[in-house]
Amino acid sequence: MKIGLIGTGMLGNAIGIHLLHSGYQLTVFNRTSDKTIELEKNGACVVSTPKEVGENSDIVIIVVKDANAVNHVSFEKDGIVYGNHKGLIVCDMSTINPINSKNNAEKFSNHDISMLDTPVMGGPNVAINGELIMMASGNKNTFDSCKKLLDTIATKVFFLGESGTAHSIKLAMNLQITMLALAISEGITLTRGMNINPETFLEILNSTYFKTGMSENKAFKMIQDNFEPTFTLENLKKDINTISQASKSLGLELPMTKKAEEVYENAVKEGFGKLDYTGILAYLKKINKMV
Ligand SMILES: NC(=O)c1ccc[n+]([C@@H]2O[C@H](COP(=O)([O-])OP(=O)(O)OC[C@H]3O[C@@H](n4cnc5c(N)ncnc54)[C@H](OP(=O)(O)O)[C@@H]3O)[C@@H](O)[C@H]2O)c1
Repeated sequence: MKIGLIGTGMLGNAIGIHLLHSGYQLTVFNRTSDKTIELEKNGACVVSTPKEVGENSDIVIIVVKDANAVNHVSFEKDGIVYGNHKGLIVCDMSTINPINSKNNAEKFSNHDISMLDTPVMGGPNVAINGELIMMASGNKNTFDSCKKLLDTIATKVFFLGESGTAHSIKLAMNLQITMLALAISEGITLTRGMNINPETFLEILNSTYFKTGMSENKAFKMIQDNFEPTFTLENLKKDINTISQASKSLGLELPMTKKAEEVYENAVKEGFGKLDYTGILAYLKKINKMV
């Protein structure tokens, strides 16, 4: 099976390396060409348009920043649809609004291309070993024909039915990431403000029912001011904006999301966007004038 990959940022690059190491033939495209060098060294064929990725592949995986980027590589000049051929399937692993995703599935279907929305949980560090967690929705027959590939990328794949459902759940998942990052960052800031070593706070937190993967792992990097990105703060802000739009369109009130959106937007304005999303702690340090 020939696989295409569009978007070789942090997550796409790791997925691509894993697919090559698992024996798949891979054709890749990225808007900025130097981000394909590592994949090329590992045996990927690099092309200069999404159209060529479509032409060379049975299944194309998209892992780009946002809905605009997905639209750009899919439907605009030299997009995937212009490389269409019989049986082409698209799996979109970018995190976008479920409404956009549903529309995209329809637009692909007008070109006889079947699209699944296949967002993932987990970063490049687990993607490199095929250990993501995936949510998938769309046509069940299409899903079945991609299952082997999706099982290579993820340890668990949840099929959720109708197109857009996977992206809806992904938004609820990223809401958890947002709140956890803020809760730990404010806990650390509070203990620091009371002249208590935040390691003590984490040690006790991790002895309780309220511990999380974040408090057991990333939090220790956070208190060392290590915000090397695996998922950038600006990309999480983009997802909070999407959660906010989605909830508004449903007439839902999510007060904590509203506040989190404001905090993350200010952090991006203050120049923290390229840090890991846990760099929200560095922003709190700044606004509290902590050295
Ligand atoms: N990192 C994670 O842990 C993680 C986990 C789950 C889901 N995700 C989601 O996966 C997607 C990619 O995340 P990432 O961490 O890999 O982000 P990233 O490192 O910022 O990479 C973003 C990718 O999107 C491309 N892109 C941006 N705007 C574009 C446009 N207008 N046209 C074409 N390509 C465009 C970038 O191309 P250039 O190189 O040219 O800028 C790059 O390949 C995002 O939707 C993110 O929310 C990430």
